[in-house]
Amino acid sequence: MSDSKTHFGNRKVPEDRKASLVADVFRSVADKYDLMNDLMSFGIHRLWKRYAIQRAAVRPGQCVLDVAAGTADLAKGFAHRLRGQGALVVTDINDAMLELGRQELTDAGLVGNVHYVRCDAETLPFAENKFDVASIGFGLRNVTRQQRALESMYRCLRPGGRVLILEFSHPTLDVIRKLYDVYSYNALPKLGHWVAGDEDSYRYLVESIRRQPPQDELADMMTEAGFERVYYHNLSGGIVALHMGCKL
Ligand SMILES: C[S@@+](CC[C@H](N)C(=O)[O-])C[C@H]1O[C@@H](n2cnc3c(N)ncnc32)[C@H](O)[C@@H]1O
Repeated sequence: MSDSKTHFGNRKVPEDRKASLVADVFRSVADKYDLMNDLMSFGIHRLWKRYAIQRAAVRPGQCVLDVAAGTADLAKGFAHRLRGQGALVVTDINDAMLELGRQELTDAGLVGNVHYVRCDAETLPFAENKFDVASIGFGLRNVTRQQRALESMYRCLRPGGRVLILEFSHPTLDVIRKLYDVYSYNALPKLGHWVAGDEDSYRYLVESIRRQPPQDELADMMTEAGFERVYYHNLSGGIVALHMGCKL
Protein backbone atom coordinates (compact mmCIF):
# COMPACT_ATOMS: atom_id res chain seq x y z
CA MET A 1 0.00 0.00 0.00
CA SER A 2 1.24 3.52 -0.83
CA ASP A 3 2.16 5.91 2.02
CA SER A 4 1.02 8.99 0.10
CA LYS A 5 -2.42 10.30 0.92
CA THR A 6 -4.93 12.14 -1.20
CA HIS A 7 -8.45 13.42 -0.77
CA PHE A 8 -11.54 11.47 -1.65
CA GLY A 9 -14.03 14.26 -1.07
CA ASN A 10 -13.13 15.48 2.41
CA ARG A 11 -11.69 12.13 3.51
CA LYS A 12 -7.96 11.51 3.39
CA VAL A 13 -7.25 8.13 1.82
CA PRO A 14 -4.12 6.35 0.58
CA GLU A 15 -3.42 7.42 -3.01
CA ASP A 16 -3.72 3.89 -4.29
CA ARG A 17 -7.28 3.56 -2.92
CA LYS A 18 -8.84 6.63 -4.53
CA ALA A 19 -9.37 5.14 -8.00
CA SER A 20 -11.38 2.23 -6.63
CA LEU A 21 -13.44 4.51 -4.38
CA VAL A 22 -14.20 6.76 -7.37
CA ALA A 23 -15.03 3.66 -9.42
CA ASP A 24 -17.56 2.63 -6.73
CA VAL A 25 -19.20 6.05 -6.96
CA PHE A 26 -19.69 5.88 -10.72
CA ARG A 27 -20.71 2.22 -10.70
CA SER A 28 -23.36 3.12 -8.16
CA VAL A 29 -24.74 6.19 -9.96
CA ALA A 30 -24.29 5.08 -13.60
CA ASP A 31 -27.98 4.27 -14.24
CA LYS A 32 -29.23 7.60 -12.94
CA TYR A 33 -26.22 9.68 -14.01
CA ASP A 34 -27.86 11.67 -16.83
CA LEU A 35 -31.12 12.24 -14.96
CA MET A 36 -29.21 13.47 -11.89
CA ASN A 37 -27.14 15.86 -14.00
CA ASP A 38 -30.31 17.41 -15.39
CA LEU A 39 -31.96 17.67 -11.98
CA MET A 40 -28.92 18.98 -10.11
CA SER A 41 -28.02 21.65 -12.65
CA PHE A 42 -31.60 22.41 -13.83
CA GLY A 43 -30.40 21.29 -17.26
CA ILE A 44 -27.65 23.92 -17.38
CA HIS A 45 -24.90 21.29 -17.75
CA ARG A 46 -26.10 20.93 -21.35
CA LEU A 47 -25.24 24.59 -22.02
CA TRP A 48 -21.80 24.26 -20.40
CA LYS A 49 -21.10 21.23 -22.57
CA ARG A 50 -22.49 22.87 -25.70
CA TYR A 51 -20.12 25.79 -25.13
CA ALA A 52 -17.13 23.44 -24.71
CA ILE A 53 -18.06 21.57 -27.90
CA GLN A 54 -18.31 24.85 -29.78
CA ARG A 55 -14.92 26.04 -28.47
CA ALA A 56 -13.28 22.74 -29.43
CA ALA A 57 -14.03 23.66 -33.06
CA VAL A 58 -13.63 20.06 -34.21
CA ARG A 59 -13.47 19.67 -37.99
CA PRO A 60 -14.18 16.62 -40.17
CA GLY A 61 -11.07 14.46 -40.53
CA GLN A 62 -9.54 15.37 -37.16
CA CYS A 63 -8.46 12.93 -34.50
CA VAL A 64 -10.26 13.63 -31.22
CA LEU A 65 -9.84 12.19 -27.72
CA ASP A 66 -12.47 12.46 -24.98
CA VAL A 67 -11.07 11.41 -21.60
CA ALA A 68 -13.35 10.32 -18.73
CA ALA A 69 -16.16 10.48 -21.26
CA GLY A 70 -18.87 8.92 -19.09
CA THR A 71 -22.20 9.03 -20.90
CA ALA A 72 -20.49 10.73 -23.83
CA ASP A 73 -22.19 14.14 -23.92
CA LEU A 74 -19.03 15.85 -25.18
CA ALA A 75 -18.06 12.90 -27.37
CA LYS A 76 -21.46 13.00 -29.07
CA GLY A 77 -20.98 16.65 -29.99
CA PHE A 78 -17.51 15.91 -31.37
CA ALA A 79 -18.79 12.90 -33.34
CA HIS A 80 -21.46 15.04 -35.02
CA ARG A 81 -18.82 17.57 -36.04
CA LEU A 82 -16.49 14.90 -37.43
CA ARG A 83 -19.26 13.80 -39.83
CA GLY A 84 -17.86 10.28 -40.00
CA GLN A 85 -14.40 11.46 -41.06
CA GLY A 86 -11.28 11.20 -38.88
CA ALA A 87 -11.45 9.39 -35.56
CA LEU A 88 -12.98 9.80 -32.14
CA VAL A 89 -11.53 7.91 -29.19
CA VAL A 90 -13.84 7.70 -26.19
CA THR A 91 -12.23 6.67 -22.91
CA ASP A 92 -13.21 6.11 -19.30
CA ILE A 93 -11.71 4.18 -16.42
CA ASN A 94 -15.08 2.65 -15.59
CA ASP A 95 -16.68 -0.13 -17.67
CA ALA A 96 -20.24 0.77 -16.68
CA MET A 97 -19.81 4.42 -17.71
CA LEU A 98 -17.96 3.55 -20.92
CA GLU A 99 -20.76 1.16 -21.85
CA LEU A 100 -23.37 3.89 -21.32
CA GLY A 101 -21.30 6.16 -23.57
CA ARG A 102 -21.14 3.48 -26.24
CA GLN A 103 -24.93 3.03 -26.07
CA GLU A 104 -25.52 6.77 -26.42
CA LEU A 105 -23.35 7.10 -29.51
CA THR A 106 -24.62 3.88 -31.07
CA ASP A 107 -28.27 4.87 -30.51
CA ALA A 108 -27.51 8.19 -32.20
CA GLY A 109 -26.09 6.31 -35.19
CA LEU A 110 -22.60 7.65 -34.47
CA VAL A 111 -20.56 4.58 -35.30
CA GLY A 112 -17.73 3.66 -37.62
CA ASN A 113 -15.01 6.11 -36.72
CA VAL A 114 -15.59 5.85 -32.94
CA HIS A 115 -13.33 3.73 -30.71
CA TYR A 116 -13.73 2.92 -27.03
CA VAL A 117 -10.85 2.40 -24.67
CA ARG A 118 -11.05 1.73 -20.95
CA CYS A 119 -8.09 3.49 -19.38
CA ASP A 120 -6.92 5.76 -16.61
CA ALA A 121 -6.53 9.43 -17.53
CA GLU A 122 -3.14 9.40 -15.81
CA THR A 123 -1.70 6.83 -18.17
CA LEU A 124 -3.38 7.26 -21.55
CA PRO A 125 -2.26 4.36 -23.74
CA PHE A 126 -1.89 6.32 -26.98
CA ALA A 127 0.99 7.33 -29.18
CA GLU A 128 2.65 10.68 -28.68
CA ASN A 129 1.45 13.56 -30.91
CA LYS A 130 -1.67 11.73 -32.06
CA PHE A 131 -4.71 13.92 -31.38
CA ASP A 132 -5.83 17.29 -32.72
CA VAL A 133 -8.19 17.86 -29.80
CA ALA A 134 -8.28 16.31 -26.32
CA SER A 135 -11.00 16.99 -23.77
CA ILE A 136 -11.97 16.01 -20.26
CA GLY A 137 -15.39 17.02 -18.98
CA PHE A 138 -16.12 16.89 -15.25
CA GLY A 139 -13.56 14.12 -14.98
CA LEU A 140 -10.35 15.74 -13.81
CA ARG A 141 -11.37 16.21 -10.17
CA ASN A 142 -11.97 12.46 -9.90
CA VAL A 143 -8.44 11.62 -10.99
CA THR A 144 -5.98 10.82 -8.19
CA ARG A 145 -2.98 12.71 -9.61
CA GLN A 146 -4.41 15.48 -11.76
CA GLN A 147 -0.99 16.74 -12.82
CA ARG A 148 -0.21 13.35 -14.34
CA ALA A 149 -3.48 13.38 -16.27
CA LEU A 150 -2.63 16.80 -17.69
CA GLU A 151 0.83 15.58 -18.68
CA SER A 152 -0.64 12.48 -20.24
CA MET A 153 -3.08 14.53 -22.33
CA TYR A 154 -0.27 16.85 -23.35
CA ARG A 155 1.84 13.93 -24.54
CA CYS A 156 -0.98 12.56 -26.73
CA LEU A 157 -1.75 15.90 -28.40
CA ARG A 158 -0.02 16.72 -31.65
CA PRO A 159 1.79 20.06 -31.96
CA GLY A 160 -0.90 22.61 -32.78
CA GLY A 161 -3.50 20.54 -30.94
CA ARG A 162 -5.74 21.94 -28.22
CA VAL A 163 -6.94 20.71 -24.86
CA LEU A 164 -10.26 21.53 -23.20
CA ILE A 165 -10.93 20.99 -19.53
CA LEU A 166 -14.51 21.52 -18.45
CA GLU A 167 -14.75 21.25 -14.68
CA PHE A 168 -16.51 22.57 -11.62
CA SER A 169 -14.61 25.50 -10.25
CA HIS A 170 -15.02 28.33 -7.76
CA PRO A 171 -17.71 31.04 -7.97
CA THR A 172 -16.18 34.47 -8.34
CA LEU A 173 -18.89 36.41 -6.47
CA ASP A 174 -19.48 35.96 -2.75
CA VAL A 175 -23.23 36.00 -3.13
CA ILE A 176 -23.18 33.19 -5.72
CA ARG A 177 -20.76 31.18 -3.57
CA LYS A 178 -23.02 31.44 -0.51
CA LEU A 179 -26.18 30.43 -2.37
CA TYR A 180 -24.33 27.65 -4.15
CA ASP A 181 -22.95 26.32 -0.84
CA VAL A 182 -26.39 26.22 0.75
CA TYR A 183 -27.88 24.50 -2.30
CA SER A 184 -25.15 21.97 -2.88
CA TYR A 185 -24.41 20.91 0.71
CA ASN A 186 -28.11 20.57 1.59
CA ALA A 187 -30.05 19.69 -1.53
CA LEU A 188 -27.68 17.57 -3.62
CA PRO A 189 -27.06 14.68 -1.19
CA LYS A 190 -30.83 14.51 -0.54
CA LEU A 191 -31.58 14.49 -4.27
CA GLY A 192 -28.98 11.73 -4.66
CA HIS A 193 -30.76 9.76 -1.96
CA TRP A 194 -34.24 10.14 -3.50
CA VAL A 195 -33.35 9.68 -7.15
CA ALA A 196 -30.29 7.46 -7.22
CA GLY A 197 -30.66 5.84 -3.79
CA ASP A 198 -27.15 7.01 -2.97
CA GLU A 199 -26.59 10.01 -0.71
CA ASP A 200 -22.88 9.35 -0.09
CA SER A 201 -21.87 9.54 -3.76
CA TYR A 202 -23.49 12.93 -4.11
CA ARG A 203 -21.87 14.14 -0.89
CA TYR A 204 -18.55 13.08 -2.47
CA LEU A 205 -19.50 15.11 -5.56
CA VAL A 206 -20.04 18.26 -3.49
CA GLU A 207 -16.87 17.77 -1.44
CA SER A 208 -14.73 16.97 -4.48
CA ILE A 209 -15.92 20.17 -6.17
CA ARG A 210 -14.78 22.26 -3.20
CA ARG A 211 -11.38 20.59 -3.24
CA GLN A 212 -10.81 21.23 -6.94
CA PRO A 213 -7.98 23.75 -7.57
CA PRO A 214 -9.35 27.23 -8.34
CA GLN A 215 -9.22 28.63 -11.86
CA ASP A 216 -5.75 30.22 -11.72
CA GLU A 217 -4.20 27.24 -9.98
CA LEU A 218 -5.50 24.84 -12.62
CA ALA A 219 -4.21 27.18 -15.32
CA ASP A 220 -0.76 27.04 -13.65
CA MET A 221 -0.91 23.24 -13.53
CA MET A 222 -1.66 23.20 -17.26
CA THR A 223 1.31 25.45 -17.94
CA GLU A 224 3.49 23.17 -15.83
CA ALA A 225 2.29 20.20 -17.91
CA GLY A 226 3.61 22.00 -21.01
CA PHE A 227 0.50 23.68 -22.41
CA GLU A 228 0.81 27.16 -23.85
CA ARG A 229 -1.69 29.95 -24.45
CA VAL A 230 -3.57 28.72 -21.40
CA TYR A 231 -6.70 30.60 -20.47
CA TYR A 232 -10.10 29.95 -18.98
CA HIS A 233 -13.63 31.14 -19.31
CA ASN A 234 -15.93 31.15 -16.26
CA LEU A 235 -19.41 29.78 -16.79
CA SER A 236 -22.37 30.48 -14.49
CA GLY A 237 -20.27 32.87 -12.41
CA GLY A 238 -17.38 30.44 -11.99
CA ILE A 239 -19.45 27.47 -10.78
CA VAL A 240 -17.85 25.84 -13.82
CA ALA A 241 -14.81 26.90 -15.84
CA LEU A 242 -13.62 25.88 -19.27
CA HIS A 243 -9.83 25.86 -19.39
CA MET A 244 -8.13 25.72 -22.75
CA GLY A 245 -4.56 25.46 -23.88
CA CYS A 246 -2.50 24.21 -26.77
CA LYS A 247 0.64 22.28 -27.51
CA LEU A 248 2.89 24.31 -29.77
C1 LIG B 1 -18.69 13.19 -13.62
S1 LIG B 1 -18.35 11.98 -14.83
C2 LIG B 1 -18.19 12.96 -16.29
C3 LIG B 1 -18.65 12.26 -17.53
C4 LIG B 1 -18.76 13.11 -18.79
N1 LIG B 1 -17.46 13.52 -19.27
C5 LIG B 1 -19.66 14.30 -18.62
O1 LIG B 1 -19.18 15.42 -18.84
O2 LIG B 1 -20.83 14.14 -18.26
C6 LIG B 1 -16.71 11.56 -14.46
C7 LIG B 1 -16.20 10.37 -15.22
O3 LIG B 1 -14.80 10.25 -14.95
C8 LIG B 1 -14.48 8.88 -14.93
N2 LIG B 1 -13.19 8.74 -14.22
C9 LIG B 1 -12.95 8.84 -12.91
N3 LIG B 1 -11.65 8.69 -12.65
C10 LIG B 1 -11.03 8.49 -13.84
C11 LIG B 1 -9.69 8.27 -14.24
N4 LIG B 1 -8.70 8.23 -13.34
N5 LIG B 1 -9.42 8.10 -15.55
C12 LIG B 1 -10.42 8.14 -16.46
N6 LIG B 1 -11.72 8.33 -16.16
C13 LIG B 1 -12.02 8.52 -14.86
C14 LIG B 1 -15.67 8.24 -14.23
O4 LIG B 1 -15.75 6.87 -14.45
C15 LIG B 1 -16.82 9.03 -14.84
O5 LIG B 1 -17.36 8.41 -15.96
